[in-house]
Amino acid sequence: MIRTHTCGELRAEHIGQTVTLTGWVNTRREHSQHLAFVDLRDFSGVTQCVVDNDVDVRSEYVLKITGVVEARLAGSENADLATGAIELKECQVEVLNEATPPPFPMDDRADGVDEMIRLKHRYLDLRRERMQRNLRIRSKVNSAIRNAMVKQDFVEVETPMLMPSTPEGAREFLVPSRQRPGSFYALPQSPQLYKQLLMVGGLDRYYQIARCLRDEDLRADRQYEFMQLDMEMSFVEVDDVLTAAEQGVLDAAEAVTGERPSVVPRITWHHAMNTYGSDKPDLRFGVELQELTPIFAATEFKAFSTAEAIKGINYPGGAAEYGRNKLDALTDFAKKNGAKGMVWIKVADDGTLESPVAKFMSDDEKAALSEAMSASPGDLILMIADEWHTTCEVLGELRNRVARPPVSEGPFRYVWVVDFPLFVGVDKTSGRPKPGHHAFCHPHPEDIDKMDSDPMSVRAWAYDLVLNGWELGSGSIRIHDPKLQGKVFELLGISAEEANERFGFFLDPFSYGAPPHGGFAYGIDRLSAILAGEENIREVIAFPKPQSGLDPLTGSPTEVPEEHLTELGLKVLPPIE
Ligand code: AMO
Repeated sequence: MIRTHTCGELRAEHIGQTVTLTGWVNTRREHSQHLAFVDLRDFSGVTQCVVDNDVDVRSEYVLKITGVVEARLAGSENADLATGAIELKECQVEVLNEATPPPFPMDDRADGVDEMIRLKHRYLDLRRERMQRNLRIRSKVNSAIRNAMVKQDFVEVETPMLMPSTPEGAREFLVPSRQRPGSFYALPQSPQLYKQLLMVGGLDRYYQIARCLRDEDLRADRQYEFMQLDMEMSFVEVDDVLTAAEQGVLDAAEAVTGERPSVVPRITWHHAMNTYGSDKPDLRFGVELQELTPIFAATEFKAFSTAEAIKGINYPGGAAEYGRNKLDALTDFAKKNGAKGMVWIKVADDGTLESPVAKFMSDDEKAALSEAMSASPGDLILMIADEWHTTCEVLGELRNRVARPPVSEGPFRYVWVVDFPLFVGVDKTSGRPKPGHHAFCHPHPEDIDKMDSDPMSVRAWAYDLVLNGWELGSGSIRIHDPKLQGKVFELLGISAEEANERFGFFLDPFSYGAPPHGGFAYGIDRLSAILAGEENIREVIAFPKPQSGLDPLTGSPTEVPEEHLTELGLKVLPPIE
């Protein structure tokens, strides 16, 4: 190494030593007529160096400085800096490279800079402490996960990036084939297909830190390309998969935070919906959904009497925070999420319920409502009356909107949500149920006899891992029995011929003795972001795409020369008006 130490390493114990540091000029300040302070920075921190004033160095110049470690003058120590007790004196400065002035400062002030500028100069943004820290956290997450899988005898297998286009799931990225113009590969949305074939192939326990690609609208927790810890296991039940999967997550959390999360609770999907109004419940705060249906069993109030389920949430102390305009906005928000309306109630100082609909409630109903909602003066109660699913879902959205802290704010609350429904909703055109996760999830064995009589009540052996209200991962036990698979296809309205046409390459191998198997995949970007205290996964990705999908650093996506397209048998049509 050109250096003897890093810029964050020197302490009082090094006083008297001659050392060589390398790094970038963080700041340069005048010290006296003859001397200047240069703060030299690398990935590990900053060291103050006292250099001759006539040395021509500016921000971001790359330097090699050799000097003697000395104690700072009493009173000039910097307690905020790990190296704040010392400085480098008698410095010899060698300029290793010059630099044009950067477009933003390499410190926290860059957080306020337009993100497109940060991303256009990502290589500079990466020099900042925040990004250095985040990428190192991510690296720790990756290595902890990998170790956890190896320790549990999982075999790492790489699966293809070029695969057939499949009709399921999100939109895929297509890759034109040069040798077969007019034909396309698809980039994998996940290694799902291949990992199940690996089970047929007897690999027993597979894992991969897998790049997945989906052409989705980008959001705080979504990128076109992202990384999954993907795994699959043979001869297992739900419990085995959850236990194996959570090792990596917990080890990663421990590696980053120094604290191992305690046991991850498991709740059913029904409980999650009923209590938190969400299949990715945020357990960091209360404001749980309360059951109010029986209280209004004899109500004359139309909106309540026709509803399948009436529920409410109590946002403690929310009455003052929510004036008329904010309540109107909340009502609109509830309607946008599918409710017919929203009832709000403010609890007055004397405990009276104040609401535009209070006049439709009897005194008994009001008393029972106050009790069920544990109402105290100053509270804001929000109620939804609708079909059960809508009631839960809309209140879940309202709960998050009024009370949810940012995802990155502690504590970390992990939860397994199990027993998702096999089917959710009905396809409007076919009148058939739609698959909850996908068509290959194993129905819960206790519910198989209800598949014909009451398919919507059938639970699946499907589960999600949730952290602070973000879905970290999903998985299921898969169907390995062709007869059961045929039954699910039948309920979905997919004929044997159609199934064969759409999924034949996947289903045929199952006739050669597929073992019972199941698996899971969780998002490494999401896990790293939350552990790093970030609210957007872009902050833990070295080169992410901004929301527009246009990369300001490289300019992609770009047009390509006509010959290139011709070779691929492609012609670009004018944009659709
Ligand atoms: P699923 O589609 O739920 O399951 O994805 C699993 C996890 O991958 C992460 N993820 C994403 N992260 C960032 N950007 C995206 N666009 C994005 N999409 C998904 C999430 C999500 O929970 N093959 C199945 C798993 C299985 O059944 O074994 C699958 O991919 O953290």
